[in-house]
Amino acid sequence: MSVLPLLTIQDLRKSFGGVAAVGGVSFDVRLGQIVALIGTNGAGKTTMFNCINGQTRPDSGAVIYNPASLPTAERIRMEKEGTLDKQSASHPINLTGLPPRRMARLGIGRTFQITATFASMSVRENVQMVMIAHKKLWRRLWGTAGSLFREEAMALLETVGLAAQAERHTATLAYGDLKRLELAMALANDPKLLLMDEPTAGMGGEERDALMRLVHGIAKKRHIGILFTEHDMDAVFTYADWIIVVHRGKVIAKGNADSIKSNRNVREVYLGADSSNGTEGPLPFLHNHGT
Ligand SMILES: Nc1ncnc2c1ncn2[C@@H]1O[C@H](COP(=O)(O)OP(=O)(O)O)[C@@H](O)[C@H]1O
Ligand SMILES: [Mg+2]
Repeated sequence: MSVLPLLTIQDLRKSFGGVAAVGGVSFDVRLGQIVALIGTNGAGKTTMFNCINGQTRPDSGAVIYNPASLPTAERIRMEKEGTLDKQSASHPINLTGLPPRRMARLGIGRTFQITATFASMSVRENVQMVMIAHKKLWRRLWGTAGSLFREEAMALLETVGLAAQAERHTATLAYGDLKRLELAMALANDPKLLLMDEPTAGMGGEERDALMRLVHGIAKKRHIGILFTEHDMDAVFTYADWIIVVHRGKVIAKGNADSIKSNRNVREVYLGADSSNGTEGPLPFLHNHGT
């Protein structure tokens, strides 16, 4: 039995001034799966991400979203909402060139860094605001401001461990809590596919592990697909179901943690050419704790 992927990346390419930041990349993300995109600095991860989430238009290739991979109940809900028409519910959708709003409505979410505007609101209000915007209820917001989606927002803050901080001003949050809030806001759109470029950037080892454990739990519980980049290999090997290793804009390996750890090409990239002498010691990044 073959599993239809939620997302299929086909031969994606993007060059900047003759340099191929993304030089023909293909891979899949399945529902319920956490996929990590890893590679050294400048490997092309962020460019790939931006081609997938619509921020950057690829030179060629396709980013295919398969609503047919979603549970029937979900597709019916989207048809009722008008997000999908009957026909596209069973057909692949090429995401390249679609406006961000349309992508969000199709169930594609991404984490954003909190900006100054949002910092002046409370933690709970930030999550409520995303919910309200998503449901296109701006007009109803007048007069009902504080109560709309209040309980839903609290439930989500509970999920990410921020319930006790709900009424605080966002600007006063500790860095790790801000990252949790960004996650809650991305989840407020109820995505089926969540895209996260370095969700744990700037976090210490324990905080990072806690956030990744949370993300892992959410992927399994909600049965959604998650694609993320992360430079800490411990976090990747512990929490990713599937790992894509990129180097100079190309995929050099894909597989589960064990297969990536023992992959010869990966070892060469991370250890340098000298290391390809057949020794089977651990990769140095396995000892790269929390720095
Ligand atoms: N907007 C841009 N203009 C020119 N070159 C870029 C641009 N964005 C990225 N690059 C180049 O593309 C390559 C891949 O960068 P990036 O996708 O940021 O890698 P990563 O996220 O893996 O560190 C690098 O050589 C980078 O300098
Ligand atoms: Mg990057």
